[in-house]
Amino acid sequence: MKTLIKNGMIVTSSDRYEADILVENGKVVLIGDSIKDAASEVVDAKGMYVLPGMVDQHTHVESPFGGTITAPWHTESVAAALGGTTTIVDFALQSRGESLRAGVEQWKQRAAGRSAIDYGFHIGVTDLRQEVIEEIPALVEEGVSTLKLFMAYKGDLMVEDATLYQTLDRAKSVGALVMVHAENGAIIDLLQKKCLENGQTEPYYHAVSRPIEVETEATSRAISIAEVVGAPLFIVHVSGEGPAQRIREARAKGLPVFAETCPHYLLLTEEELKRPGFEGAKFVCSPPLREEKHHDALWKALQDDTLQSIGSDHCAFSFKGQKELGKDDFTKIPNGGNGIEHRFSLLYTYGVAEGRLSLEKSVELLATNPAKVMGLYPEKGTIAVGCDADLLIFDPEAESTIQFETSHQGIDYDMFEGFPLKGRVKDVFLRGKQIVKDGAYIGSLGDGRYQKRKPYGLCYK
Ligand code: URP
Ligand code: ZN
Ligand code: ZN
Repeated sequence: MKTLIKNGMIVTSSDRYEADILVENGKVVLIGDSIKDAASEVVDAKGMYVLPGMVDQHTHVESPFGGTITAPWHTESVAAALGGTTTIVDFALQSRGESLRAGVEQWKQRAAGRSAIDYGFHIGVTDLRQEVIEEIPALVEEGVSTLKLFMAYKGDLMVEDATLYQTLDRAKSVGALVMVHAENGAIIDLLQKKCLENGQTEPYYHAVSRPIEVETEATSRAISIAEVVGAPLFIVHVSGEGPAQRIREARAKGLPVFAETCPHYLLLTEEELKRPGFEGAKFVCSPPLREEKHHDALWKALQDDTLQSIGSDHCAFSFKGQKELGKDDFTKIPNGGNGIEHRFSLLYTYGVAEGRLSLEKSVELLATNPAKVMGLYPEKGTIAVGCDADLLIFDPEAESTIQFETSHQGIDYDMFEGFPLKGRVKDVFLRGKQIVKDGAYIGSLGDGRYQKRKPYGLCYK
């Protein structure tokens, strides 16, 4: 089956030009002026941007976390598709006492036949034993080329520095990239206990017990440990100025340190945690939302390439029955928020339309760099002959407002409720198959395929 997308303004991380795109067997086969072909389907994209399908490298779909489970594949992958994301890399987790492989297999089973978009997996290492270290090379061969370690969540997911060192060391030798959640879990544990002893149980104390300094310190420590090992490092969900500055300094030294931030750290503040009636719990994520001054620091860090990408850290829990688990104790509120659906539109509105980022830079941050760093490039993350025909047709003129009622994520609220949006995801193609048409989902669950990702270094240095 051939599809011809005509007259669109193609925008990649490096180029902007008007041209037609011919798609056949799931691939882009020709890009040019006035292509004449008897394609079975012709889509007129006049006045629209044609962008690569977005790649979200940081999601937690249907994941047991904080004593409950996040929203499932069949809702979250459709929400992602409607927002223009065609590939996610989701965090599988090792359970204590089990193998890394068991974690990956569980996640694969949950996603199989239930995902509207393509997907790959990182594996979160929580229990590093010698036999676990020995699993790393085989997992990389199978396309799980990124490992995540948590320096926070003491008594649950947190690992010691020695584990970080050992994982970096083994990962480096086989082309795996280690990602870290950088917050000092031991100090957070003390601060949480202190708050609770003082009767400070409300959601806002989540932020009080996780000041930015504990993130800055852990970021520094992770960078130093990676430097000792001589391994590349990826720092997830950077929330503000201190950690961003440490990353800037490391990169200025030439260290292979990569990092992301997330829409909520650019657009929301810790004031949300003070909402009355326990509503602040909707905004409990880790690291916590920060003061407004950090927004500017993060936009600057995106502009000067300190941060290379923006992941959603979509970890969606409903308020009723899930966030409510922490009604009497903020430490029991499951950590995480939503972002899988509106990540691109938010960045288009508050980045591009407000003049902070060019559209090319946004494509780089939301599609091209995630694809490169995650070993999915050039099949994903760009528009070129031979790449997967993952395409997003975006109408820059439309306007809307985020409302929970019209969002598609499988939870009972939206962190970005009331945010005005510029532009609209009109059509989305996944490997040539149209899955969103005029803003409506028309695909099938099961369209998404597991992506075997390449080792670090093949797509990006
Ligand atoms: O609050 C968050 N970020 N929840 C998801 C798990 C993580 O730490 O990334
Ligand atoms: Zn994390
Ligand atoms: Zn996360």
